[in-house]
Amino acid sequence: MTQPDYAALAEAAIAARERSYAPYSQFRVGAAVLTADGNIFLGGNIENAAYPMTVCAERVALFSAYAAGEHEIVALAVVTPTDDVASPCGACRQVIFELAPRSTLLLLNLSGARRLVTPQDLLPFGFGPTQITEALRH
Ligand code: THU
Repeated sequence: MTQPDYAALAEAAIAARERSYAPYSQFRVGAAVLTADGNIFLGGNIENAAYPMTVCAERVALFSAYAAGEHEIVALAVVTPTDDVASPCGACRQVIFELAPRSTLLLLNLSGARRLVTPQDLLPFGFGPTQITEALRH
């Protein structure tokens, strides 16, 4: 496949911040997922008064793609209002490792910092579906 249009995906992630619901932290995160079909799914972080129920922007965008039946994730852009790029939380790393294993992640902030990483960079030696399927074979 040709190289994803990272500039367009970054713009989509920035626009996705408008979909954030972050009344508690005021920390609006945007994410945009590009699928193999060429579709883009957006997500903003969705908070809750019961704080641990919050779902990060990355997971909202990924779940939105899966909810539409699209499982082949090519790239995922995440934008945070931070001084440098921020890196996804531990829970998101686990979810990205399984739902977007062949993807490239573009981490960015609002002032031009950019960094490309892989799910394996974020979660080396991660626990994934193969462990389960191997165990079920025995
Ligand atoms: N958050 C994300 O949506 N993605 C990240 O990568 C880091 C954190 C959200 C969760 C919470 O709504 C707010 O940012 C502050 O942690």
